[in-house]
Amino acid sequence: MTFSRAIKIAPSILAADFADFGAECRAIEAQGADWVHVDVMDGHFVPNITFGPATCAAIRPHIKGVMDVHLMIAPVDSYIEAFASAGADVITAHVEAGPHIHRTLQAIRGAGCKAGLALNPGTGLDAVAHLLDMIDLVCVMTVNPGFGGQKFIHSQIAKIEALRKLIGDRPVHIEIDGGVTAETAPLVAAAGADVLVAGSAVFKGGSAQQPQAYGDNIRAIRMAAEAALL
Ligand code: DX5
Ligand code: ZN
Repeated sequence: MTFSRAIKIAPSILAADFADFGAECRAIEAQGADWVHVDVMDGHFVPNITFGPATCAAIRPHIKGVMDVHLMIAPVDSYIEAFASAGADVITAHVEAGPHIHRTLQAIRGAGCKAGLALNPGTGLDAVAHLLDMIDLVCVMTVNPGFGGQKFIHSQIAKIEALRKLIGDRPVHIEIDGGVTAETAPLVAAAGADVLVAGSAVFKGGSAQQPQAYGDNIRAIRMAAEAALL
């Protein structure tokens, strides 16, 4: 994974057909997805349950590019090895998931993965300030984690701008997660984000059997984001 701050679209399979994940991953990549965002939820850190390492291992052969695993679980550390062995390229943990985030990030990199740090909407950048040399990505949640299809929380734009300044020229991605559409993508791109997660905005109107809409949706988000950078 060479570092680039070019806009990347990362569809979240939370909005995909849960009965057809392999075909859905192949379809979104064929239609232009840069990363595949995999939302792991434990029903404890967030009020929803999705899937675990076994599902990640099962979909790995169907993903040519980056498998971007978002762990909305607590505790995290005891599961890192399993997600790394399942083939995760990026493992992102929530700073709110436990008291030892520095150790968690060490463990993610120790397992050979890129380390991501996720911040809930209520969490400030002081949580990042002392970890900048431990991370490859910061995921700014623009919804409260647990569900797709929620409304974008606009107050997070100022956080993204401040984060972009804090990161400077370090090779650290800014990922935005939640409520990203062709309407909100320009706002977050202009604020400094480079990885845009989108679930409902990508999967709406299509299927693995008729994936044209996926391509149209990905292009709409990407063009809107890139237009904001001209
Ligand atoms: C929410 C997840 C997001 C979500 C995005 O807890 O982390 O990745 O799937 O879904 P949309 O794009 O529909 O808001
Ligand atoms: Zn996510």
